[in-house]
Amino acid sequence: MKSLFKKHIIKISNFNKHEIQKIIELSLYLKKNRNNQQEIQYLKNKKIALIFEQESTRTRCAFEIAAIEQGAYSSYFGPGNMHLGYKESIIDTAKILSKMYDGIQYRGNDHNVIKILSKYASVPVWNGLTNKYHPTQLIADLLTMIEFSRNKNISEIICSYLGDASNNIGNSLVELAGIMGFQLNLIAPKKYWPDQKILNKYIKSNNIICTENINQGIYQSDFIYTDVWVSMGETEDAWKKKIELLRKYQVNKKIIQIAQNPKVKILHCLPALHDKNTKIGKKISNLYQFNDGIEITNEIFDKYNRIIFQQAENRLHTIKAILISTLTNIEKLKIY
Ligand code: CP
Ligand code: NVA
Repeated sequence: MKSLFKKHIIKISNFNKHEIQKIIELSLYLKKNRNNQQEIQYLKNKKIALIFEQESTRTRCAFEIAAIEQGAYSSYFGPGNMHLGYKESIIDTAKILSKMYDGIQYRGNDHNVIKILSKYASVPVWNGLTNKYHPTQLIADLLTMIEFSRNKNISEIICSYLGDASNNIGNSLVELAGIMGFQLNLIAPKKYWPDQKILNKYIKSNNIICTENINQGIYQSDFIYTDVWVSMGETEDAWKKKIELLRKYQVNKKIIQIAQNPKVKILHCLPALHDKNTKIGKKISNLYQFNDGIEITNEIFDKYNRIIFQQAENRLHTIKAILISTLTNIEKLKIY
């Protein structure tokens, strides 16, 4: 896995199939060691900068805990904490941070910012979510699918994604399926299909379909994946524009029945609007007459939350694997 040393991770297609397999193997190894309280530190004295121009729970916690448990230090820069792009150019910031840190995580709404950061940083830059891609999430999703499909090869898995497929998760899923070869059915109104350029690159491989037809897309799925219908960085009036088109793509009991697979499992990258216990969930539910969750009903979320929370936990193990792979020459370390 020498090839990942010092590499940026901006999108899933920065990895090849072999590298993704190695990251998954390393994640499983790290997870096992952590669970057995036998973690070995590979990142002693490394320093990482965590820039979050958007809010986060899982990604921030996963990077910080991965750093702590591996012996590295992290600095957190929340929204408005840095001069980045306001009083100091992205280029200057990239060069200055590279003098002090061994790696830079960036989350923000404008994918162009991370492109510039990675072009001018001399240390690895990791994408912790932009409007276009969410690669670290997708590695955790893959690990979760593998853990819950022990009797299947990756190429035999059918994953259906329901909802807004034009967002960072939809685009990244296309790349992941294109590279790893599982069947991906993206079920959404045509207006919310993934980026056409990304689709064009991978759709030839014949394992990716986009459809508006729920029955066609869901039938025999092993995993049904959904995400919020309005992503970070979109304005509130996006709800009004999107909700009527997306309403019928809610993950609910009826959808599970259509799958006709008693072993079907649900994935959600979280956060989820599955009840009214959030300000947005309550407001949107009341405004648009949703009685039980928005993109997923509470009934289904509760029933399948063991896998969904394992998916969230897997952010830690997979981010740890990405940090180790890009910050160390892991071949020399002979980890496993
Ligand atoms: N899934 C995910 O990226 O969660 P956060 O927004 O909490 O980081
Ligand atoms: N598509 C969502 C993902 C959240 C992890 C968003 O960008 O808000």
